[in-house]
Amino acid sequence: MKLHVAAAASLLLAMAATAGAVTFNATNAASNTTGGHRFDQAVGLAYANQVLSSASIFIWITFNQTNPADRKPVDAVTLVVADVDGAAFTVDDAITLSAQYVGNYSGDVKTEVTGVLYHETTHVWQWDGQGQANGGLIEGIADYVRLKAGYAPGHWVKPGQGDRWDQGYDVTARFLDYCDSLKPGFVALLNAKMKGGYTDDFFAQILGKNVQQLWQEYKAKYA
Ligand SMILES: *[C@@H]1O[C@H](CO)[C@@H](O)[C@H](O)[C@H]1NC(C)=O
Ligand SMILES: *[C@@H]1O[C@H](CO)[C@@H](O)[C@H](O)[C@H]1NC(C)=O
Ligand SMILES: *[C@@H]1O[C@H](CO)[C@@H](O)[C@H](O)[C@H]1NC(C)=O
Ligand SMILES: *[C@@H]1O[C@H](CO)[C@@H](O)[C@H](O)[C@H]1NC(C)=O
Ligand SMILES: [Zn+2]
Repeated sequence: MKLHVAAAASLLLAMAATAGAVTFNATNAASNTTGGHRFDQAVGLAYANQVLSSASIFIWITFNQTNPADRKPVDAVTLVVADVDGAAFTVDDAITLSAQYVGNYSGDVKTEVTGVLYHETTHVWQWDGQGQANGGLIEGIADYVRLKAGYAPGHWVKPGQGDRWDQGYDVTARFLDYCDSLKPGFVALLNAKMKGGYTDDFFAQILGKNVQQLWQEYKAKYA
């Protein structure tokens, strides 16, 4: 019986989770490192596959892309836990999570990895203005999704903090949350426009005010 349970469990781990036609495949190439071992113990491949799937569905809803024809044409999202520097990065539809980051993280590592995966999975699905988009905005949209999914870590800036709208990450995510409050669906519209190219004027086209004016009003609101 024990053997059956173990066999079924490893089969489940080997299976890639699916959401519609998209497949999700998490692997751990660093199981023999301290951080890779911690990943297996505290997070696990089955859970990681489930996060890739639920994050993708959450992103499609956030981007108002419930129709697959509106999405980036991605068939498979992969995650590899690898013995590399940094925290995580994404190239096309392949996410790499640093086993060292997992090993060094102090705190609830499962929740942290979940938040990191929401951020990285956003990079898989978001449009980048044909490579012309502001890098701070790209990172801000990824953290905006993480924020809306409920995985903003406690160390993030508070609403109204930061020096520039395109500072990136948490600063830009909080600003985008403000913009979305002015017109619900703003981030979805902005992302849709970013399919064909990029200009800061997209903010004015959607909200009727340029991005500098929006930033000043945002700062004033929390001053
Ligand atoms: C998942 O990826 C690994 C490593 O690339 C590969 O060996 C495996 O066959 C893939 N599994 C599925 C179900 O696609
Ligand atoms: C883990 O295994 C890989 C591949 O076999 C090897 O290159 C690497 O040196 C190993 N790392 C440790 C910490 O044992
Ligand atoms: C993890 O900690 C080790 C030892 O302090 C350090 O060498 C490594 O750069 C750290 N890695 C990351 C990704 O923070
Ligand atoms: C979502 O997209 C549909 C068309 O696909 C559009 O009719 C609707 O207004 C959009 N919703 C928002 C909030 O922008
Ligand atoms: Zn990023």
